[in-house]
Amino acid sequence: MHEVGSPGPSAPGDYWWRSAAIYQLYVRSFADGNGDGIGDLAGVRTRLSYLAGLGIDAIWFNPWYPSPMSDAGYDISDYRSIDPVFGTLADADALIAEAHAAGIRIIIDVVPNHCSDQHPWFQAALSAAPGSAERARFWFRPGRGRGGELPPNGWQSIFGGPAWTRVTERDGRPGEWYLHLFAPEQPDFNWANPDVRAEFEEVLRFWFERGADGIRIDSAGMITKDASLPEVSIDAPSGPHHPYADRDDVHEVYRQWRAVADEYPDRVLIGEVWIPDAVRLARYVSPGELHTVFNFPYLSCPWNAPALREVIDSTLALNGPVGAPATWVLSNHDVDRIVSRYGRTDTSFSLQQRAYFHSLPVDLQLGTRRARAAALLTLALPGSVYVYQGEEIGLWEVQDIPDELRQDPIWRRTRGADPGRDGSRVPLPWSGQEPPFGFSPPGAASEPWLPQPKEWRELSVEAENGQAGSMLELYRSALRLRRAEPALGDDSMTWVPSAEGVLAFDRDASVRCVSNLSAASVALPGHCAVILASDPLDGGMLPPDTTVWLRTEPQD
Ligand code: GLC
Ligand code: CA
Repeated sequence: MHEVGSPGPSAPGDYWWRSAAIYQLYVRSFADGNGDGIGDLAGVRTRLSYLAGLGIDAIWFNPWYPSPMSDAGYDISDYRSIDPVFGTLADADALIAEAHAAGIRIIIDVVPNHCSDQHPWFQAALSAAPGSAERARFWFRPGRGRGGELPPNGWQSIFGGPAWTRVTERDGRPGEWYLHLFAPEQPDFNWANPDVRAEFEEVLRFWFERGADGIRIDSAGMITKDASLPEVSIDAPSGPHHPYADRDDVHEVYRQWRAVADEYPDRVLIGEVWIPDAVRLARYVSPGELHTVFNFPYLSCPWNAPALREVIDSTLALNGPVGAPATWVLSNHDVDRIVSRYGRTDTSFSLQQRAYFHSLPVDLQLGTRRARAAALLTLALPGSVYVYQGEEIGLWEVQDIPDELRQDPIWRRTRGADPGRDGSRVPLPWSGQEPPFGFSPPGAASEPWLPQPKEWRELSVEAENGQAGSMLELYRSALRLRRAEPALGDDSMTWVPSAEGVLAFDRDASVRCVSNLSAASVALPGHCAVILASDPLDGGMLPPDTTVWLRTEPQD
């Protein structure tokens, strides 16, 4: 916790990232400063006061680097600059300085698994010969079959289709193949190569020098590979025996990165590690490695009391002994928005089953009510918490984007079998009665890069601002109280006995959080004051799908 006005140094044992509320800012869709229909840094700068007023401690920016945008910026062609569509490096410097002055820290996204096929290193590898030093930075291999016409192995891309693409050699003949676990425009780096390791250490320093307070590490568990490239089925368990998912040798890399981060005061490394095995996940945050990882088991958990309690317990049980704070995440730019998820008959989520989830009916009113209750539950848990832009105004997953406007490579590469992630990336509604809802300036030349539902006029920041009972005011109150309340943030929690379908825990002797996930109202436990409730209480009763923060002892 820190005072607004300056991020200031953390006292040891009270590091800012242990309890921070971190706003995930998806630049393309946040605010468009120049009217081309795409969010940019100028747009962010005009909205910093909104973020300061929301009460967040840090912003995580999705990739803002020069990129051909084959995967919305996760295909980077220059790790040391800003894409012209978003602005310039000078804009980034100004933004970092302004955010710091407003007491907000900056976390940037670094993508070490792969770059863009337009990155100078990959271009050099394409023009160089098989066996060259340039190709050794990636995974080039001859094909199988008589003429090398078959890929080196049968690995499948996470975005659909084969994980290998064949190149044309300088003499014009079909040649080697290169590995891309994601799109063909995203060639995988070879992390056994010393150039790659040295380059990324310099990239980290480059951004730390410019004032970045933290790094979110994309696809962090996948960067090292078994060089013998053994076959593996798409559903093989991750871990030491997997050729690329969560291998033991990734940890060497992150110990190096930690040493780099420790050259600077108060910097944080955050891993995006999508693995189901919580014990393996905790290894990433062991001493001398990453500071935190995203809590995907929590994100994927259904709206169900025993299931949530189990994830909360296992998170704390695994983080505690290694000394790492827990993180709590409800959604991000890769998954369905929480209001839609919680409005379905199946409230869980998995990346592999998006089409199934989209086939279920959605009750938006129910989903919104549950999202409110989930927000208060999440913000009461010990550790740091992420808020994905739009969550704070209750946006839903846009499932009816016309096919011809969809942009996600997942949609294209699965030929529509997977609807992709565009529905969670639709530009924010700020104000006004019709699209672009203040996302772009008046008279903008272009429409927003994805169409906004007209119903979002009721969810705009302007529409919700100052409205008692709006999602925005709930988030504002909760974030303000969480910051002011010494019992919230990082520290311990204790479950208290409760009825079936109810989660109740104390943060210290004086603050209790109670969430009712059952279908019936339950009696509120004894308390001396209601601090905040996600929906109106019913006398002494806590209605279904409602969370309340109670003061259980008078304050002095
Ligand atoms: C991560 C990102 C996702 C991206 C992928 C490839 O999972 O969150 O958006 O497509 O990595 O970089
Ligand atoms: Ca723009």
